[in-house]
Amino acid sequence: MQAVAVCRQAKLDDVEPLFLMIENYARQGIMLPRSRAVLERQIADFVVAEMDDKIVGCGSLCKLGEELVEIRSLGIAEGYKGRGLGSMLVEQLVDEAKKRALPKVMALTYEVSFFLKNGFAVVEKEIFPEKVWTDCVNCAKQHACDEIAVLRILD
Ligand SMILES: CC(C)(COP(=O)(O)OP(=O)(O)OC[C@H]1O[C@@H](n2cnc3c(N)ncnc32)[C@H](O)[C@@H]1OP(=O)(O)O)[C@@H](O)C(=O)NCCC(=O)NCCS
Repeated sequence: MQAVAVCRQAKLDDVEPLFLMIENYARQGIMLPRSRAVLERQIADFVVAEMDDKIVGCGSLCKLGEELVEIRSLGIAEGYKGRGLGSMLVEQLVDEAKKRALPKVMALTYEVSFFLKNGFAVVEKEIFPEKVWTDCVNCAKQHACDEIAVLRILD
């Protein structure tokens, strides 16, 4: 049994558990769904948290501009929340953004307090370019988006 959580780059073997976790949150209206094909194509942009020999968390980066990247599909499985895994994944994604020389990391979220604790600030959605909203065409709430925009500027 794996008692310690590991946060790592996702690999193709992770596609099925990733798909199921995101699908579960998508059904609750918390995340946008991602098909298996999309996950396979974008697997290099995903990180996972692994504990008890299973995937218990995930998150991804989506480049939106020369300096801007979005954290997407961030979630921790029920039973594993509140143990610092979400923060670990955010730090891993922030490190990856630094490596890619993308200093502005944003997210659209309902979990504002969590992001504030992780060094983000609430910002007006309007400061982001049009490209941020391309994913919204797939969202049931596209005409009544109630998510909050948060931004962290890396040193
Ligand atoms: C939001 C989420 C990723 C947080 O992951 P987590 O592993 O539970 O968070 P952590 O344990 O790393 O918490 C870090 C800090 O944020 C706080 N926090 C976590 N979730 C919080 C919440 N919903 N409201 C307020 N504070 C929260 C924790 O208390 C902790 O504070 P502390 O450092 O003072 O103890 C997780 O709750 C989740 O999967 N939510 C559903 C999916 C979702 O909404 N994802 C965001 C999409 S952008």
